[in-house]
Amino acid sequence: MNSKLFVLVSGALVVAALSGCGNYPQSSRGFRLPDGNAEKGQQAFLALQCNQCHQVDGVDFPAPKKFNLLLGGDTARLKTYGELVTSIINPSHVLSDKYQQQLTDSKESPMPKFNAEMTVEQLVDLVAFLQPRYKIVVPDYNPYPYYP
Ligand code: HEC
Repeated sequence: MNSKLFVLVSGALVVAALSGCGNYPQSSRGFRLPDGNAEKGQQAFLALQCNQCHQVDGVDFPAPKKFNLLLGGDTARLKTYGELVTSIINPSHVLSDKYQQQLTDSKESPMPKFNAEMTVEQLVDLVAFLQPRYKIVVPDYNPYPYYP
């Protein structure tokens, strides 16, 4: 790296550090859901017919008819409730990896918007129902392959 570029890059890093993460209007800083009820979340899942397109890991729902996208199961990364709420109330914001593998040309989620009919309580309970279904699996990584 030449010295001019180095000064520029370190300057940018200092500015980023000083400005503090999450200090902008769209930040999720301060976002906190009340505790939900997983059992009522499961009822809401059926009442809103989420099971038309989703199966939930470890739960025996009637088979999905439109899509078959598994919610929950093994994941390498914690699913935060911020991510789950966003997937439910703003489905096109981040399209799920599993779905992108199926349809690469679509930028809009085919998941319907439930915001007009879903109550806040249902949303909170849905998150309480879904979040524990994701199981963190630590990738099998051995930094010393010659010393198992
Ligand atoms: C018509 C089909 C359909 C219905 C009904 C539906 N979804 Fe989805 N959902 C999808 C598709 C397709 C995706 C993947 C694209 C995306 O990420 O938006 C998805 C993604 C998700 C994700 C993100 C998954 C991930 O791994 O990131 C969550 C959470 C979710 N849906 C929850 C729900 C809940 C809760 C309901 C009911 C309130 C629901 N969905 C109803 C089709 C549907």
